[in-house]
Amino acid sequence: MGQKRIVVLISGSGSNLQAIIDACESGQINGKVVAVLSNKPFVKGLERAKKHNIPAITLQHGDYSSRESFDNALANSLVGFNADLIVLAGFMRILSPDFVNQFQGKMLNIHPSLLPKYPGLHTHQRALDNGDLIHGASIHFVTAELDGGPIVIQAQVNVESNDSVDTLAHKVAQKEWIIYPMVVSWFCDERLTLLGDQVYFDKTIIKTQGISYESLDSNAKPII
Ligand code: GAR
Repeated sequence: MGQKRIVVLISGSGSNLQAIIDACESGQINGKVVAVLSNKPFVKGLERAKKHNIPAITLQHGDYSSRESFDNALANSLVGFNADLIVLAGFMRILSPDFVNQFQGKMLNIHPSLLPKYPGLHTHQRALDNGDLIHGASIHFVTAELDGGPIVIQAQVNVESNDSVDTLAHKVAQKEWIIYPMVVSWFCDERLTLLGDQVYFDKTIIKTQGISYESLDSNAKPII
């Protein structure tokens, strides 16, 4: 099986991008990050890409007259890079349904909450405000519903009474840096598929909340 061509979309720091680049370089992922696209200029994630000699491209939505024309430019770029997988890693922009449909089954997103809890912004603050004892991150296939596509995996963190938004964000990020490379490796090994709105791992249906990271065995084999 040849290496998959991965394009990562970012808007900021790119710490998840870094985890994925590192996992490609170490061989954990049978794939290659062939481009990094950001909708914001000068962000740290673009610098990270350049350090690894990966084309780092800014597509500023302000330069386009409409959401559709921006999404068209983005789609053309992804097709130009011949992307097998599109990884949204802190990409903070809503994509139009046409765009999402064009790449359905090939596009993953990570979101800092245990979906379906807290789609949208300020997830850590909302978990604290609600007195949640458990919080976490989810990876899902992207569909036209915002943060609503079929879930692949969730990882949990405990919320302690002295947690702040910052400490909680850091705890969640540490889990994200583990689960995102893992899920990308599954996709590149063709073990993960989206059929309709159902996720399959090794041809077995994954339950609605996704695989639980906590239930993985020592070989990281999911118990479904
Ligand atoms: C991550 O925590 C990711 O879950 C979140 O943005 C952060 C990006 O960090 N994504 C969203 O909120 C998407 N709705 P990074 O740029 O350091 O990878």
